[in-house]
Amino acid sequence: MMEFRIIRRSLFIVGLFFLTTISSCYYDNYDDLAVGVDKCDTLSMTYTVNVSPIMTQYCTGCHSGNAPAGNIPLSNYVQVKTAADNGSLEGTIQHKSGYSPMPKNQPSLNNCEINKISAWINQGTQN
Ligand code: HEC
Repeated sequence: MMEFRIIRRSLFIVGLFFLTTISSCYYDNYDDLAVGVDKCDTLSMTYTVNVSPIMTQYCTGCHSGNAPAGNIPLSNYVQVKTAADNGSLEGTIQHKSGYSPMPKNQPSLNNCEINKISAWINQGTQN
């Protein structure tokens, strides 16, 4: 009878140990994930390093060459700065009313890409 109680108590302690170990692992992973999601560096954005690659990936397929879509070329600094300065760059990628949503007929840019472009504009559209 005494033995049985001791075994039961040690099983309980072992069980507690596993529960806390497993739940702490769970929270470790959760923290890592949360950091990964929130991480979007928007410090010191420049056209060359940060904005141009986004344009090349999502925009210049239509907005470059001899007949750019909507007659709006977006393949160099001056051209993208022009769209930034007149508000159409942010208007289109943020799907603001009054602007044609871009990239046309494709999923929206992700939040980090949109935040980087807004930061670039707010920081003075550096080349
Ligand atoms: C599949 C082709 C295509 C892609 C990709 C595309 N555009 Fe466009 N874009 C167009 C067309 C066509 C127009 C002319 C207006 C319309 O038909 O909606 C246009 C118009 C625009 C305009 C002017 C619209 C307005 O309301 O002032 C801007 C600014 C613009 N695009 C920016 C972008 C940006 C930035 C990207 C990338 C994130 C992009 N576009 C990707 C085809 C495209």
